[in-house]
Amino acid sequence: MKKDFLTLLDKSEEEIHELLNLADQLKYEQKNGLPHKKNLAGKTLGMIFTKASTRTRVSFEVGMYQLGGNALFLSGNDLQIGRGEPIKDTARVLSRYLDGIMIRTFKQSDVEQLAEYASIPVINGLTDYAHPCQVLADLMTIREYKGSFDNLKLTFVGDGNNMANSLIVGCIKMGMNVTIVCPEDYKPDRKLIEWGKKKGKLTITQDVIEGMRGADVVYTDVWASMGQEGEAEKRKRDFEGYQVNLDNMAYTKPGSILLHCLPAHRGEEVTEDCFEEHAKEIFDEAENRLHAQKAILVTLMG
Ligand code: CP
Ligand code: NVA
Repeated sequence: MKKDFLTLLDKSEEEIHELLNLADQLKYEQKNGLPHKKNLAGKTLGMIFTKASTRTRVSFEVGMYQLGGNALFLSGNDLQIGRGEPIKDTARVLSRYLDGIMIRTFKQSDVEQLAEYASIPVINGLTDYAHPCQVLADLMTIREYKGSFDNLKLTFVGDGNNMANSLIVGCIKMGMNVTIVCPEDYKPDRKLIEWGKKKGKLTITQDVIEGMRGADVVYTDVWASMGQEGEAEKRKRDFEGYQVNLDNMAYTKPGSILLHCLPAHRGEEVTEDCFEEHAKEIFDEAENRLHAQKAILVTLMG
């Protein structure tokens, strides 16, 4: 049966560990000029984007190239999908040409439908609900900095949407304690909160200082996500105080790291000085998108 990568909820702990180990190996090989797995020779990944992207687009395209294959950028506006061609037809047509599809769009249900009708692997490159590729790179980065996931506390400060949802699943599956600090009206997905509380240690709070106290990893993301630009001003008011800065970072554990999926809005979810103090971690995290996604590509399409 073909494999997809739609959410981390579908992946077992074992599968996530295997992907992380493969990502580490691919990074090591690339950094040391060692013979690199070329097992995607002759294969093509189609990349459908109905939202903007810097990291996801470039890392998938470069990743396919480094693995010996090709990637095609397919803008949602230029595809017939943008003129109403059904996803289920697009899925069946693209399956005749390509070896895999990466899609970034709004609705998770569209990605699920694409995967249902495609006979080739489908990878979720971000929806409003989830960003599993980003969290795989985040887990890789956390393990690089902290050595293991044992007894770690990750605190996410911000909007409880795609990043918070996927961090809950990925971090709890790896055995970490997770705290989400968000305004009352911006909580993560209700079902994922229930899942997280049952499966591990998940705290949802509005208290920024208490949430960040003792954290090993702090994570933040924009207040207005792609598609929510019209709500930006309202969100600035609603998220006032939910900012990561050097003052509240002082409550975290010594040696704590700050991660950000990027792009960052300085002066909103994070201050300029705090971002720059943690720039090494944040850009290592961005780099790891490449290595983590190569592991996904090899596993699904190799
Ligand atoms: N973090 C992330 O997915 O970045 P892009 O939106 O640039 O792809
Ligand atoms: N929450 C952000 C993440 C960007 C990588 C968005 O959806 O725009």
